Amino acid sequence: MSQREVRDELREHEFDGIKEYDNPLPRWWVWLFWATIIATPVYIVYYHFGPGKLVADEYQEELDAYYEQQRQQLLALGEVSEVVLRKMMENPAMLSAGEKIFIAKCVQCHARDGGGNIGPNLTDDYWLHGGNLMDIHRTIHDGVPTKGMIAWGNQLSEVDIMAVTAYVGSLRGTTPANPKPPQGELFVRQPLPEDGDAPGGEAGGEAVPDAAEARPAA
Ligand code: HEC
Repeated sequence: MSQREVRDELREHEFDGIKEYDNPLPRWWVWLFWATIIATPVYIVYYHFGPGKLVADEYQEELDAYYEQQRQQLLALGEVSEVVLRKMMENPAMLSAGEKIFIAKCVQCHARDGGGNIGPNLTDDYWLHGGNLMDIHRTIHDGVPTKGMIAWGNQLSEVDIMAVTAYVGSLRGTTPANPKPPQGELFVRQPLPEDGDAPGGEAGGEAVPDAAEARPAA
């Protein structure tokens, strides 16, 4: 092979005392080089346009599975109640599931930060339809059709309504950019009993000055 004959022939130039040979690159290196070039379009087509899953997608799938698992665990706590909703409010996975729903369904009327727009401000202590989590849950589920608030019970699953209720509950006390002035009654949310075992799970706050309308026992 002619290449062999000229092996280890030094090139003319020199830099900082370093000289180099003019040998061809090793075969394995050249093949690897071509292999990466061939693999690139295959990778792009398969993963970006084909059936392959990108890392981000796989991550999202795992996250969704995790949310689902969390939901099932929370549902196992029992029927929707003030206590269950309060527990959901303490669960970051639940809140982020609720936030997703809020972004998809509620922001056009309540604003991204809950400060209110067509619908009322959801971050303040004033509520038209009660500020207990069960009140909020009922308002979201049944809506206020005559006033433009949709009855989401027709469109969202029960778990989704619970998640978005928990999310709305968590907005309280945050500071939206353009808060709508308070509407409704001042409402003070009471701490739950420590063990969270309030009879019927209806423990919650009371409207001031009137007592919050007690929900009929299911
Ligand atoms: C088309 C507009 C619109 C959309 C979308 C909407 N709402 Fe409302 N919402 C309203 C209006 C208007 C009211 C006030 C009803 C009234 O005046 O009685 C309201 C009231 C409420 C209240 C009660 C506030 C209070 O002071 O008692 C809650 C809670 C609420 N919305 C949550 C939600 C959630 C959660 C979503 C998304 C799943 C949502 N809303 C989507 C318009 C909307």
